[in-house]
Amino acid sequence: MNGKGTILVTGGAGFIGAHTSVELLGEGYDVVVLDNLVNSKREAIRRIERIAGRPVSFVEGDVRDTALLERVFDAHPITATIHFAALKAVGESVAKPLAYFRNNLEGLLAVLDVMARRDVKQFVFSSSATVYGDPHTVPIDESFPLSATNPYGQTKLIAEQVLRDLLISDPSWRIATLRYFNPVGAHESGLIGEDPQGIPNNLMPYIAQVAVGRLAKLRVFGGDYPTPDGTGVRDYIHVADLARGHLAALDELQRRPASFTVNLGTGQGYSVLEAIQAFEKASGKTIAHEIVARRPGDIAACYANPAAATNLLGWRAERDLAQMCVDQWRWQSGNPAGYTAEAD
Ligand code: NAD
Ligand code: WQD
Repeated sequence: MNGKGTILVTGGAGFIGAHTSVELLGEGYDVVVLDNLVNSKREAIRRIERIAGRPVSFVEGDVRDTALLERVFDAHPITATIHFAALKAVGESVAKPLAYFRNNLEGLLAVLDVMARRDVKQFVFSSSATVYGDPHTVPIDESFPLSATNPYGQTKLIAEQVLRDLLISDPSWRIATLRYFNPVGAHESGLIGEDPQGIPNNLMPYIAQVAVGRLAKLRVFGGDYPTPDGTGVRDYIHVADLARGHLAALDELQRRPASFTVNLGTGQGYSVLEAIQAFEKASGKTIAHEIVARRPGDIAACYANPAAATNLLGWRAERDLAQMCVDQWRWQSGNPAGYTAEAD
């Protein structure tokens, strides 16, 4: 234990949680990860510890289990929670809305309940640019109207409302709501990265799996959007920059008794074709692709105005698309099948 405090990281074995845990440990925080491994592997925890050179307290379990949460708070002097644990596949959420509402909202409520009982009221929440629905224009700032286009997005929208209402009822909470744009890339060590189960839904992991030979060809969803080259434009942000954003948010919560909601993006939009080119350059591989019909529910362009995060937190994304691709390729080529336990 040390002076910085102990952070409960729910979903800390997952993509963003693992990178954030590494940053927290590096800054001198102690980290307790609570994860049921529904979309991650225990090996991620070993890799986090290897990078950081320090142990993680890992608890395998469900965030909806309030008795377990109570035991976690009994066993560790937790000072704040970063709540990543959620299901996040948009298509699956359309097919299984109840599973998404139960997991993402019951999980949030259970964590907040136990925190309130323990009088631990610093909370960082993983929200998403999905709460802007189909934005009327870009770049997107935090004052834009909110809406949801699928059940996953609804869980984030409702979660944000829960947090606003909680704050009204008890202003002693300090809550950072972070709206992520499109997190990609991997830790520069190549030891941790995104490890999607089954066929990836998201662009960068799909491209990376084509590059490594796991998948044959990328389907580019739509070539007729009102964008410069007709393909969808997104704000890809390096996961290491995103992880640092969480530390900046925690610092701010500790500095003053205020809650806030900020976008975490680069402010720069890239098309699908630009992402393919950048990845080809980083990997030296050709990414076979063909343009097919639009994916239902997709929007043309989505990128952040990240000024609020810079002004409030002194944070800005530093790594460019080329770096995102280099790091994603290091992870993918070094771990072609994702996390597999090493003989140890
Ligand atoms: P991820 O699936 O890699 O990580 C989520 C982790 O939570 C997984 O390890 C999973 O096993 C765990 N988990 C899920 N339900 C749980 C439960 N009931 N109890 C305990 N653990 C549980 O996803 P990620 O990309 O790291 O996303 C982290 C958070 O950020 C999520 O809340 C997600 O909705 C949000 N987010 C992600 C993106 C993105 O594109 N990756 C964008 C915006 C917001
Ligand atoms: C990016 C671009 C696709 C796959 C999703 C969620 C969002 C957030 C981040 C959590 C789009 C195109 C993709 C493929 C393609 N998650 N594409 N072929 O849709 O911006 O956001 O993840 O909060 O809520 O909706 O990300 O990576 O799926 O797509 O052409 O095989 O790549 O059409 O233009 P998206 P993505």
